[in-house]
Amino acid sequence: MLKGKKILIGVCGSIAAYKTATLIRLLVKQQAEVQVIITDAAADFISPLTLATLSKKPVLKHYTANSETGEWNNHVALGLWADLMLIAPATAHTLAKMASGLCDNLLMAAYLSARCPVAVAPAMDLDMWHHPATQRNISRLQADGCYVIPPGEGELASGLSGKGRMAEPEQIAQWLSLFFTASNWLKGKNVLLTAGPTIEPIDPVRYITNHSTGKMGYALAQAFADAGASVRLISGPVSLQLLHPLVQITPVHTARQMHQAVMERLSQADIIVHCAAVADYAPAQIAPQKIKKQEERLTLDLVKNPDIAAEAGQRLQWHQVHAGFALETDHEEANAHQKMLRKNFDLIVLNSLNQKGAGFGHDTNRVTLLFRDGKREDLPLLPKNEVARIIVQHLTQLLQTKSHVV
Ligand code: CTP
Repeated sequence: MLKGKKILIGVCGSIAAYKTATLIRLLVKQQAEVQVIITDAAADFISPLTLATLSKKPVLKHYTANSETGEWNNHVALGLWADLMLIAPATAHTLAKMASGLCDNLLMAAYLSARCPVAVAPAMDLDMWHHPATQRNISRLQADGCYVIPPGEGELASGLSGKGRMAEPEQIAQWLSLFFTASNWLKGKNVLLTAGPTIEPIDPVRYITNHSTGKMGYALAQAFADAGASVRLISGPVSLQLLHPLVQITPVHTARQMHQAVMERLSQADIIVHCAAVADYAPAQIAPQKIKKQEERLTLDLVKNPDIAAEAGQRLQWHQVHAGFALETDHEEANAHQKMLRKNFDLIVLNSLNQKGAGFGHDTNRVTLLFRDGKREDLPLLPKNEVARIIVQHLTQLLQTKSHVV
């Protein structure tokens, strides 16, 4: 996938720089051409000799290559040469400089000159990552068109544990392969997708939720991105990870948060898919303290949550494609059909809990696709990513049909 791709890698001063050595090895093994630029601080963490040996090219550090002969490292040429520039690890300091356009070393000059796509793989301690200034810089870089390969969670060099570790070399290499292989069916199109369960707090320690694991929604996000779409995934709490250059995840907990996140982005979407298992009701009041077990019976007062799909269906514009899921236990097709009309879907994916290997938590699914025009398609038991690919194909066709009807 990476054969012949020219990748300019910037390395900054973080302990995660040791992982970049492995990353370079993986890329060179896949026959990518790698040119490394390091900062002064990076050279304290990893030897330029190591990186030069692995990348098979001298490592660049300063503007001048040889001050006696006046030989210099042309940052403009580097930016033009690369198919992609990746800064890994990207420290909080370098992210801040990038966000404000500062140019105090060769790496920053190459960044500001680069005409190719730029990705950053941040690495820092958890409090630095969560600091509003860092998050502001990340948002600004995303608005400037930079891709962010999110850091993972785990043990950090400080001894603390949390989010901030640079993504693993294998994950970054896979991210790069996906970046270069995304097909073009849905290039330039925006997909808005919900996934996972919602959780509705009862008190500070308890909540109401359901069995959704988010597997189907995440498989759809991957399939849309593989088809070249920019995907905004509004995800309830799940234990899945998805690192794809075209997928941006907005994590939410409650149905109300999911509703707000969807409504804010609805008008910009070309395709909207509701895959989340949204809780229909939430406690009317969240107890401020843990509820003590005093009474023999306890009644929870629940209020209806907004129906996100139904509201999106009401606000739908003529060119937008709208799809949802239905999980039914009885009168499956009739119920799903009614839901399709009520929520103004072009397509509804009917999941049956009565089928072996289908439903919550499985890697496979067996679904029936019901279309607004009365067509139907029964799919056999398939891996969820294959089901996702077929759904994406149908939605792409629906989008094409709508855009031809003016
Ligand atoms: N949905 C939604 N917001 C809700 C409830 C459901 O967006 N508050 C979406 C789901 O993501 C799914 C579709 O609507 O795409 C159908 O969800 P489902 O739970 O099957 O239907 P409900 O409308 O909740 O109806 P019921 O629970 O009575 O079957």
